[in-house]
Amino acid sequence: MNANTNSASPSGPPGSDFDRVSDPVLDPVDWEARYQAGDTPWDEGYAAPALTEFLTRHPIHGEILVPGSGPGHDVRALAMQGDTTRVTGLDLSDTAIAIARSQAHVGGEHYEQGNLFELPKSWNGRFDWVFEHTCFCAIPPTLREDYVKAIGAVLKPGGHFFAIFYLNPAAHSGPPHGVTLEEITKLFNSDFELLEEWLPTEAFEGREGSEICQLWRKC
Ligand SMILES: C[S@@+](CC[C@H](N)C(=O)[O-])C[C@H]1O[C@@H](n2cnc3c(N)ncnc32)[C@H](O)[C@@H]1O
Repeated sequence: MNANTNSASPSGPPGSDFDRVSDPVLDPVDWEARYQAGDTPWDEGYAAPALTEFLTRHPIHGEILVPGSGPGHDVRALAMQGDTTRVTGLDLSDTAIAIARSQAHVGGEHYEQGNLFELPKSWNGRFDWVFEHTCFCAIPPTLREDYVKAIGAVLKPGGHFFAIFYLNPAAHSGPPHGVTLEEITKLFNSDFELLEEWLPTEAFEGREGSEICQLWRKC
């Protein structure tokens, strides 16, 4: 995948946090250009409410990866849990990584520019947790099986995958790319065991009722 070669077209569906792109197969979204232009309507300026709520009842420790971490709000919410937490924010965009690095340090967080689908072998089996929020819906649907493989590869055996999935099955193009709960569950079922699934009680304005949380364990 090369997400940095083309530009996103400007118009999105009414109420969408994201713009439409012209070719969802090849991922023509130029994420770096979007960050350079400050054209990042998905950035609400703070961590996903469903993550904040989850952490109040279920602290997460160890090595954590946040793919597509953008400006890093979720990374810092995870890192604030204390010394036993080390969080890596990963993003394709150099500018997103620079923005994240410019924020006040809160704990054991750091940020790396890179492509989730081209991770170094040294990352295999490195993480206790992966936290997903608005990365899965940003990648082209054709890369979803690769996404599952990438998450499975970086997790330790028995590692956990906590996801806030954005469901918008009516969307014909994206990002955010449409997906159903059934599709997501089928995708992860072969390599992961579903531990818990719930509708978040808190969400960003406009996303209420469109998100589902799932907690998976790598088999
Ligand atoms: C919709 S934005 C969400 C950013 C962040 N999670 C947030 O909520 O603010 C999707 C992010 O995924 C990143 N991204 C897209 N494809 C990626 C890939 N293959 N590897 C790493 N990051 C990717 C983009 O650069 C962008 O920052």
